[in-house]
Amino acid sequence: MLSRTGREDNLEECLRNLARDCIQFRPKSPPRVISTHLLSKSFFDKKRGEIKAADKVSLEVRPGEIYGLLGANGAGKTTVMRLLATLIAPTSGSATVAGCDVVREPGAVRSRVGFLAASTALYNRLTAREMVTYFGELNGLARREVDIRLERLATELDMHEFLDRRCDGLSTGMKQKTSIARTLVHDPAVMIFDEPTLGLDVMTSRAIVRFVRECRDRGKTVIYSTHMMHEVEKLCDRIGIIHQGRLVAEGTLAELRQRAGVNDMEEVFLKLTGQEGLS
Ligand SMILES: Nc1ncnc2c1ncn2[C@@H]1O[C@H](COP(=O)(O)OP(=O)(O)OP(=O)(O)O)[C@@H](O)[C@H]1O
Ligand SMILES: [Mg+2]
Repeated sequence: MLSRTGREDNLEECLRNLARDCIQFRPKSPPRVISTHLLSKSFFDKKRGEIKAADKVSLEVRPGEIYGLLGANGAGKTTVMRLLATLIAPTSGSATVAGCDVVREPGAVRSRVGFLAASTALYNRLTAREMVTYFGELNGLARREVDIRLERLATELDMHEFLDRRCDGLSTGMKQKTSIARTLVHDPAVMIFDEPTLGLDVMTSRAIVRFVRECRDRGKTVIYSTHMMHEVEKLCDRIGIIHQGRLVAEGTLAELRQRAGVNDMEEVFLKLTGQEGLS
């Protein structure tokens, strides 16, 4: 039998310690629910030529957070969201949502996502209840499940008063609440809201912001686009600033303020998008 020298024992011990330290101190990347890598979408227009609506966007949204996508008109917010919801295909780059690839597994992505778009339409002749029920059944829910979900959403969004009225007679705020309920009836893990408070009064906007926060508190992951600074300040855990299709900055409010060296969110935005002094 071979006997071991003291040096060999020492070496073995050293290697064991090194391996243990590597395991303990290996930096863990935070888990992500949405992840995009150099995600790009170009449109071609006869007059404008190539429009890079999303240009190499790499962003990460972590579980249970509200990620704000902040950008001016035409910045590319809706395009990024439509890519994530698999409504359009990327020109290049990749993205995963809830672990599923948007190009290879669009069906799996859609079943895990609720997408409220500015253009989310309602059928005028249906009542709010019929509308939400219809989409619940389209998403494969049994009637009983739909009823339970609708009851809950109607309470959270304060919809009971108009549930049995036809959509064509609803106010803008009532329509938006119905659209939100129709978008979320299948209780998706990931919620994509494209400017959900646009054109709504203060009370209705607040109700929707509160609702989105409650969704986050129940563990949902939310990506929320807006160009309203006060919404970002009230609602978002982390923010991505998008400008001319590019993600120009990402971080918490505090991180963005620190990076811009100013406190006021409008100034932060103008500074980080290089538009300071143009206003
Ligand atoms: N289907 C399309 N065909 C051609 N150009 C498009 C198309 N969709 C978007 N664009 C262009 O891509 C750019 C980004 O548009 P997008 O709608 O994503 O911006 P946005 O940030 O959502 O703006 P807004 O705040 O006005 O909603 C714009 O220049 C827009 O004109
Ligand atoms: Mg938009």
